[in-house]
Amino acid sequence: TPVKLTTDHLANFVGPEELAMLQPMVTVADQLLRSGTGAGHDYTDWVHLASQFDSAELVQIQQAAAKIKNQSKVLVVVGIGGSYLGARAVIDFLSDYFNSAYPDGDRDFPQILFAGNSISPSYLNSLIKLIGDRDFSVNVISKSGTTTEPAIAFRVLKELLENRYGHQAARDRIYVTTDANQGALKTLADQQGYEKFVIPAGVGGRFSVLTAVGLLPIAAAGFDIDQLLAGAKEAENAYRSADLSQNPAYQYAAYRNILYRKGYTTELLVNYEPTLVQIGEWWKQLQGESEGKDGKGIFTATGNFSTDLHSFGQYIQEGRRNLFETVLRVKNPVSDLAVPTGQAEDGLGYLEGENLSYVNRMASEGTLLAHVAGGVPNLLVEIDKQDEFTLGHLLYFFEIAVGVSGYLNGVNPFNQPGVEAYKQNMFALLNKPGYEDLHQQFQDQGLI
Ligand code: PA5
Repeated sequence: TPVKLTTDHLANFVGPEELAMLQPMVTVADQLLRSGTGAGHDYTDWVHLASQFDSAELVQIQQAAAKIKNQSKVLVVVGIGGSYLGARAVIDFLSDYFNSAYPDGDRDFPQILFAGNSISPSYLNSLIKLIGDRDFSVNVISKSGTTTEPAIAFRVLKELLENRYGHQAARDRIYVTTDANQGALKTLADQQGYEKFVIPAGVGGRFSVLTAVGLLPIAAAGFDIDQLLAGAKEAENAYRSADLSQNPAYQYAAYRNILYRKGYTTELLVNYEPTLVQIGEWWKQLQGESEGKDGKGIFTATGNFSTDLHSFGQYIQEGRRNLFETVLRVKNPVSDLAVPTGQAEDGLGYLEGENLSYVNRMASEGTLLAHVAGGVPNLLVEIDKQDEFTLGHLLYFFEIAVGVSGYLNGVNPFNQPGVEAYKQNMFALLNKPGYEDLHQQFQDQGLI
């Protein structure tokens, strides 16, 4: 398997009998998930997405990606939360580090830029400046079709497209990914005749990376979505047993649950490769939005090492003992580099000729031992390499784990009611029609 879970470093924190004690609960959680009888069961179609992917849709995605490549130097992907984090994570994971800094001439595929994931005017202005006079296309992604952040960004970019190319030609550069039957974006796409891609009703945003939501931007960026799906399909098979001893993804879920019950309420997903930073962002949403509800759940954060070891590494080593870490490590980096020889003055003689991958690995081993000794339980998830197949497998590993983990903790892992609270207040403050009462209340309180 391209994803390996190691739990040896939990020895001081979790006894061997504790995992076995959770087996009956895991069996029930697995049944709830797979039989479609658990809370939120209408949103579990992601479990078999890769193995049941519609081949005609795959062709449509590939064709649209090829069309975007022909027509544009830049693709702006407009979306927020589950409608962008997956694509961004996959593209960063597979890309050359400074890909976005290369001039167009050095790029085989369009540059992918992300918009609509904040309301910052400066960000959008800078993005427009970066597009400059290069040809661009837009993929706007929103399941509800009504989310404010992407709706605003899309309005701005649509206007830019129409001003530059005219109404008719602008239409040919807009790709819409949304619900099959409802929402403002769907209505707009139908009216204007934009090319449409569907977010399946039974797949929530944070589980949608292996639908057109993720696959179109990923294919447009030049990556192999067949391999990504193949990896996920392999993982469907690898993690289908309810038996903990046979299922590393369920082991991960069960150990997290055991640690959580002991008071380890914050989990850091740790990486040693900057191309994994966005995987951390995707994971943070997947776990945090699925489990943080009803007054419970593990708080999810990330550690980008060794960078952060020179920052909040101090806290991890000696601060409040409510943390555990899941180290996500790449066994074989994309490329290697040896420490040059013959410069005695800098004190690095002992590293001469060593590969940086070796030094990085020793940094991760040393950190792991130090943190465990400092009272921070550590799990290790190791992947062989950074390619599409491995990533597809890894994404599914975390998805299936969180499905079971949510049920183990007695929550519906597939809703996100808390996301609405800020929106209500924002709409009322902005005097959106339908929010008059709350607007009045805020006025009475002198807030506006
Ligand atoms: O995971 C989720 O459900 C959310 O993060 C949504 O993806 C996010 O709020 C964007 O929603 P929409 O796709 O409806 O614009």
